[in-house]
Parts: sequence; C-alpha cells; structure tokens
Amino acid sequence: MNEVITLLQSHRSVRKFTDQTIPQTVLEELIKCGQAAATSSFIQACTVIQVEDKNKRKLLVDLAGGQPYVEHASRFLVFCADMNRHKLVCDMHNSKMEAGYTEQFITATVDVALFAQNVLTAAQSLGIEGVYIGGIRNNIAEVSDLLELPKLVYPVFGMCLGYPAQDPETKPRLPLSVVLKTDHYQDDNDTTAISEYDEQVREYYRSRTNGKKETAWSEKIADMLVKEARPHMNPYLKDRGFILK
Ligand SMILES: Cc1cc2nc3c(=O)[nH]c(=O)nc-3n(C[C@H](O)[C@H](O)[C@H](O)COP(=O)(O)O)c2cc1C
Repeated sequence: MNEVITLLQSHRSVRKFTDQTIPQTVLEELIKCGQAAATSSFIQACTVIQVEDKNKRKLLVDLAGGQPYVEHASRFLVFCADMNRHKLVCDMHNSKMEAGYTEQFITATVDVALFAQNVLTAAQSLGIEGVYIGGIRNNIAEVSDLLELPKLVYPVFGMCLGYPAQDPETKPRLPLSVVLKTDHYQDDNDTTAISEYDEQVREYYRSRTNGKKETAWSEKIADMLVKEARPHMNPYLKDRGFILK
C-alpha cells in the first residue's frame, strides 16, 4: 500500500545483533519520535533510561530471566511510567498532588506503550531492529533499585535495539474477524477461526525450528494462563505509589 504500512506489517522481534553501534544522535532522534506520540491529557508520562553501564547490563540480563540480548544489543532502553515529574510540577505550584489513582496508572502506562512503539517503528524505518523486554518485571523491585527509580516511577518494559544479525519470519497474527467487530461484541465464530489460525502458528513454529516445535497459539495461551502472572506486581505498584485508589 505504502512504505509505512509495509514497514508496520513486516514487524518481527529481533534478538541477535551485530557489533555496530547505533550512534547517539540517531538514538536521540528515535526518542524524539517517541515523544511525538499522542499523550493522555498531555501528561507526557514516559521517561526512558538508556543503560550504557556494562555491569548494569549484565545484571539486567539475569533480572530479566536470562536474556543475553539485553547485554549484546547496541542499546538497551528501559521505558518507565513516570508520575514523579508531575509531583515536582505540583510542588512548583504549591499544589498537593492526588497521586495513586488507578486511572493515572493506566494513562501513564498507555503513554509509555505509545512512546515506545513509536521508537521501535522509527528504528525499524532506519534498518535498526529490536525486541521489547517485559522480562525486567520478573524482578521489578531490583530493577528499580538498580536504576535508582524514585516513588511514582515504574519500569514498564525494556527494549533492545541494534543492527540485525538475523532475519526471522513475521509471526502470523489472529484472523481479522477475531480482532475486528462491527457495532457490538460477539465471539460466536471465534473458536473456529482460532482453530484455523492455530494451524498457521504450528506451521510457523515448524518452519522456524526445523519441525522441533509446533505449538498452537491457543495451546500456548491456555498453558500460560493457568499459571500465576507475576503476583509481586500488585504489592510492588502499591509500594511505588500506583494503584492505591
Ligand atoms: C510488552 C512486551 C514485552 C515483551 N517481553 C519480551 C521479553 O522479555 N523477551 C522476549 O524475548 N520477547 C519479549 N517480547 C516480544 C514478544 O514475545 C513478541 O512481540 C511476540 O511473541 C510476537 O512476536 P513478533 O514481535 O516477532 O511479531 C515482548 C513484547 C512486548 C510487546
């Protein structure tokens, strides 16, 4: 259709990178693209920590559950939802900030996601690739300490960026009928559509792993969702001043 649409539809995560460094000037342009994203009520609640310290990178590999690309990527960014600066601003005006609303948590987190996806898309437009690292939430308190995050700031995810040393296939997405509804929600035909989609995903894994893996999407999800999902997140967020009310 056009170059932007082709770029968006050819997204895939890349986890192997060459040694080539992304110049700081390029990185800063990417961050400006993140800043250009829409932002709820103009709150601008995203702060990015660029992790250059090699020891911190090594520690983050482990804190993210053993993901070596966190160390080897040219750049590793931690995207934080940040309501601390809003507290500073309220203090500037001698206003007492009403922090801790779940709504603020949602708006700040959404801001971060929009910002980060702009960064990744802009990077991809320059031939740089990457992968999000939600794994940093495995040990979110330790990550917060490592990066000296104050209260009202939490790391939503990391992102590895670099020049690609692999060229993976795109992963097939759910059929349009499952994700696009008209006028009202209905899921009458979704299980049939998902079963057909499962075959595509099996084929994707078969071709990617020389037949060693062939997990269907629904199997993967059903397997994942019977397990606990980072139960430490709720007390952590409360401790950091989020989702108190
Ligand atoms: C918020 C978020 C967190 C993610 N965390 C990780 C991660 O910790 N490690 C990883 O290898 N991939 C991670 N991913 C990448 C997803 O696994 C990947 O996007 C998904 O499987 C779809 O594959 P694709 O990006 O190649 O299309 C994450 C993606 C998102 C959006």
